[in-house]
This record gives sequence, structure tokens and C-alpha cells, in this order.
Amino acid sequence: MEKNSGIYRHTYTQTQGPPRRKWVGRVAQSAVFLLLLLVISPWSIPGFSQLNDINNNNNNNNKDEPFQWSSIPPNPVLTYTPCFGIFQCARLSVPLNWNATEHDEEFSSTAALALIKVPARVPITDPRYGGPVLVNPGGPGESGVYQVLTDGEALQTILDSGNLESTFPTEDDGKFYDVVSFDPRGVNNTTPKLDCFSSAFQQQAWQLSMPDYGLLWDSERVIGLEWARAAALGASCSHNAGGGILPYANTAQTVEDMVHIIEQLGEWRAAEAARLLTTTTTNNIIPHHLQYQPGAEKLQYWGFSYGTVIGATFAAMHPDRVSRIVLDGVVDPADHYAGGWYTQLQDADSIISKFCEYCHLAGPDACPLYTGSSASEVEARFTSILQSLKDNPIPVSHTDSPQILTYGDAHLHLLSGMYFPFATVDQFFHLLPALEARNTSAPVLAAMAARKQAALVPTPDTAPYISAMGAVQSISCMDSLDVSTTPEFTREAFTAYLAVLTSQSRWISPSWARNKIACQGYTTRAAWKPPLRFDVQQWANTSHPLLIVGNSHDTVTPLRNARRVASIFPGSVVLQQDSEGHCSHSTPSLCTARAIRRYMQTGQLPREGLVCQPDVRPFVGCIAETKCRFSSEEGKMWEALVTLADPFKLQEAEGLYTYRF
Ligand SMILES: *[C@@H]1O[C@H](CO)[C@@H](O)[C@H](O)[C@H]1NC(C)=O
Ligand SMILES: *[C@@H]1O[C@H](CO)[C@@H](O)[C@H](O)[C@H]1NC(C)=O
Ligand SMILES: *[C@@H]1O[C@H](CO)[C@@H](O)[C@H](O)[C@H]1NC(C)=O
Ligand SMILES: *[C@@H]1O[C@H](CO)[C@@H](O)[C@H](O)[C@H]1NC(C)=O
Repeated sequence: MEKNSGIYRHTYTQTQGPPRRKWVGRVAQSAVFLLLLLVISPWSIPGFSQLNDINNNNNNNNKDEPFQWSSIPPNPVLTYTPCFGIFQCARLSVPLNWNATEHDEEFSSTAALALIKVPARVPITDPRYGGPVLVNPGGPGESGVYQVLTDGEALQTILDSGNLESTFPTEDDGKFYDVVSFDPRGVNNTTPKLDCFSSAFQQQAWQLSMPDYGLLWDSERVIGLEWARAAALGASCSHNAGGGILPYANTAQTVEDMVHIIEQLGEWRAAEAARLLTTTTTNNIIPHHLQYQPGAEKLQYWGFSYGTVIGATFAAMHPDRVSRIVLDGVVDPADHYAGGWYTQLQDADSIISKFCEYCHLAGPDACPLYTGSSASEVEARFTSILQSLKDNPIPVSHTDSPQILTYGDAHLHLLSGMYFPFATVDQFFHLLPALEARNTSAPVLAAMAARKQAALVPTPDTAPYISAMGAVQSISCMDSLDVSTTPEFTREAFTAYLAVLTSQSRWISPSWARNKIACQGYTTRAAWKPPLRFDVQQWANTSHPLLIVGNSHDTVTPLRNARRVASIFPGSVVLQQDSEGHCSHSTPSLCTARAIRRYMQTGQLPREGLVCQPDVRPFVGCIAETKCRFSSEEGKMWEALVTLADPFKLQEAEGLYTYRF
């Protein structure tokens, strides 16, 4: 992981920033993987993936041996073991197939879910204990364990009450939550593991043999190549049922896992309350609100991106179990289950237009692509730089090995900027003038070439296994493939699809179109799919209405999906965040964070039609009202939001924050 560390960083240095921290190297290295990951996990929040090596962090209890999931046995009863420092881990046994009857072969087979918790900041017997909030990062295929390790505390800060310091705490001081997640079936530490590649090295070799984005879909030959690759990968994931888990890795099974998890959490809560009360008081009657309610425990949940499909499916299958559900960055579940891939890119290109608008507003000191006349001229310049790279890649000859910079290389930066504007759009725009000038002496281009070179030479020891690669296709395909029929998708149909997708977004359609053919090689079908449809409401009203969050300009989950899902869950409310990027946390907005906190704490929804402004915009910087200066309580929330928006501290590392505060 440390090889070549630091290359990313010095490329964009504006040097007057704060002193560099020693972990910047790893951060910088991670950015490369961040970019690679975007390619394979479109809905996910790619930054939440395996990029930081948590095991090497200092907050590990046992300094010699990192925590190993295999060191704890799967248990049908939720039993926590301390792990990764402040966290609690468990492996929870669940039926492999929730729908199996005793006549089915797999009736007594189990899976073991890897579950992790950031414990609440108060003991559960404290009147302010708010119970667990489950979170999911999306993908499909992203690791909930990884999300909690990296972001669990920041999410907790947003959800928790701001009053921890009461001398005589009462319920009126607000609630404090456990933040819990798990690796869904087919993902990371949950077993049996999904098996699409024989090793990380093989996986990376496969990934590196993808055609360049500049060439993608340009000719029938490239389409044929991609078609064959999709079929090969699908067949490989289907081989031996993907290691045994594939037919059981669809969303409905995960929803049943969540029902089981909240029941187990309820049982654990009552047992833990009994334990605490016996050791601390003579009164050992468990208060009513801590008693286990068998069959009636409810869900508190915050799901991002594909995590909104999980949330919507849960709410449809178990409407009486909803206590709080936040859907953030909404995927249209009807389109998801149909395998349509038609309802994602509608707002994508407007992100680039907005960036160019901010660039023009901010002027030449803040935006390297400023042209002096108008926002549309900035956009024309932007487009022509990328277009010319498509026709003429840049040869770089003064590194130790020959290398070229292509449209595909720039495309990775483009995607990154569009998903994570707060973290990466500055870097991306700094790169563009150098690409325009084709000046290979410019440090940014030299660094870009060196970084590409480094990524091309994985070794069996250094290649990181990306659990989402394979899982994203597998889970989507188990959700969308019809149980009884084979897909009749033709090359002609695909060409027509490409035309539709390109008209939705010129910028994202090349990488996105792969999703449409991903199910080609799958010979496996989901063992159980409940006959749920999401075009109209077919279920009882939820026991509490949902809070649905969408950005004005989201990369892959347009606001219209939020409105559509709100229309099939009566009483739910859409909160619009007026920013670019994927999911609300791609740009800090205290207004959004406060609305989510209030909903979780009190159940109160924001008023219909509320539009939250972000606190910072690309190039323009902090909005005038606050200038990013906050009171101490708001400051904590702001820091949590920055952690989520910039998971690799790229902004801080580059010293780019400084002029904004
Ligand atoms: C899988 O979980 C481990 C913790 O057990 C974490 O360190 C790793 O980054 C995760 N991998 C991915 C791909 O999310
Ligand atoms: C190329 O970049 C180098 C290093 O930044 C700079 O010194 C030089 O003037 C640039 N050349 C041109 C033609 O822009
Ligand atoms: C299996 O699923 C079907 C349809 O989703 C349902 O009718 C049936 O009751 C389920 N059986 C079990 C054992 O869960
Ligand atoms: C569901 O909620 C809607 C709107 O809140 C209401 O009009 C409708 O009667 C409810 N349906 C049922 C079955 O309670």
C-alpha cells in the first residue's frame, strides 16, 4: 500500500497549507484506488471502500495481531467481541435462504454476517440511549463494516443529540445512538464468501485489461469485446454458485437479515440492561423501553445510494417495522429490480455545467479553467480539452518507463470530481490546463503518468482485493434476473440502449453502460424473490414516514427518483440539498444534517419543499452567511460532515481548505 505514496499529493500543491501529516502518503495512494473503484462500483460511494488499511491504524487494541473475523465463531445469538479499537464486532449466523422450508436442501445451511458497531456514547440504561441506527453505504457490494470503521463516528455525531454534557441527564437532552452495520451477503467479511476471482492479483489483472474509456463503445468491435468480458465475468461469478452464496445474495434476503438483526439487537439490549442493572444497582427490573419485544422490534436506518434500495425494500416488506428510515441518494427500485439502468444519469451532466458556472463566478485565482468571459466558455474549454485527448493521447517519455495519458485517465478524474466535488474537483480542474497545454514538464502530468505506471504493475503481494468488483454485478443480477427465464438481450438492443444513455449523459454514459450487459454470463438465479413491484404502492403504510434526501444535481441518483419513491411511501417527505455530487454527504450542508438529526431524534419530518443549501461550493468556497465559521456545537457537526465529504482528507492534504476558512 505504501509503494509510491505521496505521488498524488505533491502534484497539486499550493504549498501554503498546514503542515503535512505523516498519513498523507497513504491518503494520496488511496486516491488512486478511489479512482479505480469508481469504474466498477457505480452507485456506490466509492470512497468508502477498502482504501485505508484500517488494520494498520493505531487504534487497534492488540498491537501485534490485527483483528481477524475468522477468530470469532459464527453465533446464532448476537455476541460482541471488541475489535479495531473502539468497535464491537459479531458474526451472526442466519439461514442461507430465509424462504427455505424443511424440504429444501439448504434448509439448515447458514451464512455468517459480519456485523460491527460503534457503541453509543451513553450506557444503554441511561435515559438518553436511543438504540441502534443501521447504516449501509451502497454499491451494491460496498462493505458496511468498512463504512462503520471509517465513518461510523462521523455519522454518529450527526445523529446524536448535541447535549452530552448534562449533569442530570433526562430524556429531554436528546438521544445517543449505536451506529451499526454489516457486510451484506456477497460482500467482504460475510461468509460464505462470493468467489468471482481466484485472487486479488487475478482481479487486478482483469481490471487492467479493460479498454480505455476514450475507445469504449466506439465501434462494434469494442462492444463485442465488452460483451464477451461481461459474459466471462458473469460465468466466473456463477461458477459453483459463486462459492455457495450467489443464489442467496439478493436484496430480499438482506432485508430478512436486517429483521433478524434488529430482533437480535433487541434481545441483546434487554440482556445487557439486566447485566448492567444487576452489577450497578439493587433494582434489577428492566425498564419497559429496554425490554425485548419479540417479533416487534423496529428499524432505525440511514441508507445511501443502493442502500436506498435496501431501505425501500425493507419498508415495503415490513412496513410495520419502520421507526426511522432515511433514504439518501435514491435509486429507483422499480428500475433496479427490472435491470433497466435507465433512471440514473438524468442530472449528471448538469454537474459539469454547475462546476463551470462556479468557476466563472470564482475567477482566475480560485479556478484554473477561468476564461474571463462566461461560464459557457469555461464549459466549452472543458469539453474541448477532453475531446482532444480522445483523439490525441499525450505521450510521456521522461519517466523511467514510457507512458501515455489518455482520455480514460482523465475520465477517472472526471468521475471522481463528479462524485466527490468537495474532495476532488479542485484537483481535477488543476489538471485540465496542463492537459490542454500538453506540457509533460508540468508536475501534474508527470505525476499522473507515474501514478498510472504504478497502478499497472501490481504484484501478487500488493494488489488489494476489491470486494465490490464482482459483488456489484452479482447482487444486481440476482435482483433483476428473472427466476425462470434467460435474458433475451441482444446487441441491437444494447446499441439502442447506448444511444438513450448517451443522450442522458455524455460524461458518465461510457462507464455506466457496462451495467446493462453485466448479467450476460450468469447461469444462477436467486433462490427466492418475493413478488414485489415498486411502480405503485402495494403494501400497508409504514409505521413511521420516511425521510428521502436528494441532491439537486446528483451524479447517478437524480432527484426525480427521490420524488418517485416518496410518491409510493405515503407520508414521506423529500428533502432537497442544492448541491452537486452523489448523496448528501458529498458536500457538507449543516441544514441537511440538522434535518436528518431532527428526524432521527424526534421523528419530525422537514416541511414539504424544504431546500437545503450546502455550506460550501466548488471554487466559490464557503457561502457568505457562515464563511464556514461555526459555534462549537455546529463545529462538531461541520467536522463530521467534512470527514464524510472528504474521506481521504485530500482537501486538507493539499492545503486547499485554507483559503476557504
Ligand atoms: C473489509 O473489512 C475489513 C475489516 O475487516 C476492512 O479493513 C477492509 O477495508 C474491508 N474491505 C473492503 C473492500 O471494504
Ligand atoms: C511547462 O511546464 C513547466 C513546469 O511547470 C514550465 O516551466 C514551462 O514553462 C511549461 N511550458 C509551457 C510551454 O507552458
Ligand atoms: C416463501 O416466499 C413465498 C413468496 O415470496 C411466500 O409465499 C412463502 O410463504 C415463503 N415461505 C417461507 C417458508 O418463508
Ligand atoms: C395511508 O396513508 C395515506 C396518506 O397518509 C392515507 O390517505 C391512506 O388512507 C393510508 N392508507 C391506509 C391503508 O392506512
